[in-house]
Amino acid sequence: MKHFITTQDWGRAELDALLSHAHGLKASPINRLLEGRAVALVFFNPSLRTRASFEVGAWQMGGHAVVLEPGGSGGTGGAWGMAFEPGAVMGGDAEEHVREAARVLSRYCDLIAVRAFPRFVDWSVDRRDLVIRGFAEHATVPVINMETITHPCQELAHVMTLQERFGVPDLRGKKYVLTWTYHPKPLNTAVANSAAMIATRYGMDVTLLCPDERYRLDERYMDAACSNAAESGGSFAVSHDIASSYDGADVVYAKSWGALPFFGKWDEEKAVRDANRHFIVDEEKMARTNGALFGHCLPARRNVKATDAVMDAPYSMIVDEAENRLHVQKALMASLVGGGGAG
Ligand code: CP
Repeated sequence: MKHFITTQDWGRAELDALLSHAHGLKASPINRLLEGRAVALVFFNPSLRTRASFEVGAWQMGGHAVVLEPGGSGGTGGAWGMAFEPGAVMGGDAEEHVREAARVLSRYCDLIAVRAFPRFVDWSVDRRDLVIRGFAEHATVPVINMETITHPCQELAHVMTLQERFGVPDLRGKKYVLTWTYHPKPLNTAVANSAAMIATRYGMDVTLLCPDERYRLDERYMDAACSNAAESGGSFAVSHDIASSYDGADVVYAKSWGALPFFGKWDEEKAVRDANRHFIVDEEKMARTNGALFGHCLPARRNVKATDAVMDAPYSMIVDEAENRLHVQKALMASLVGGGGAG
């Protein structure tokens, strides 16, 4: 059975088919591709865009979305108490194991989509992605990643938006800067991991711009970006120099993330983060680019990650990309239930 856990598991032709279908669905949004179908949306963490776009998307295709928030979506998933470790001895708070939850939801629903952020205590645990992997192992229907330690739906929306803005499907050769930005809290690396993978997959020349080596992504994603670039004809490099990274860029994609060596010791990272507020995306930096597009997955703190002038500029594609979440996820859901596109 095909799941959508990471785009790395999908071939380029499959991704291209999804994107092509998404462009078509944007032009003609209402259909019956999910008629009689139900989608479980399981949120262990909060959402604005993901929840709204999946719910509306299912409805626009004649399907039904069931939203579940184990423990309340503001929690870490521990409040309801679901266990994910194989062989767990459930003498603590967990009331239910993913083995049952996934199989039961599979009896009601045709798709299960899951959002489960890291717990931010121990990266060696979080990087195993146990929640979504548990659902994928035990579900008998396809499972969709709505953001765990990667955010593949955001990747699809990002590529779709770049294709629209550049007016061509081929993104090869574009100079792409994935820039770390300051945020008062240490955030998930998911979108940065995803951006590095999908930008290299589509043949762009990608620079990961971050304050120092401690902000490198997990080597799993660094390696994936390198091998994607080798395959696509793009490139992948790390830089800590703001000016040269922005020079001549065609795309600036901003994201904040917590440095992995400080995982679980976030107080120690605070001084490092605070010293790098100047990574904010502003007009002065954008002026160095080749008229670059600016992107961010949202939500984004204005005048912390990017200035108002950048967020509201004609070259800002932040709202377009958020809209395109709807179209790519519709194509994805249709594909996974056998209703068009790839899969
Ligand atoms: N970009 C994104 O996934 O937004 P939400 O967290 O609001 O779903």
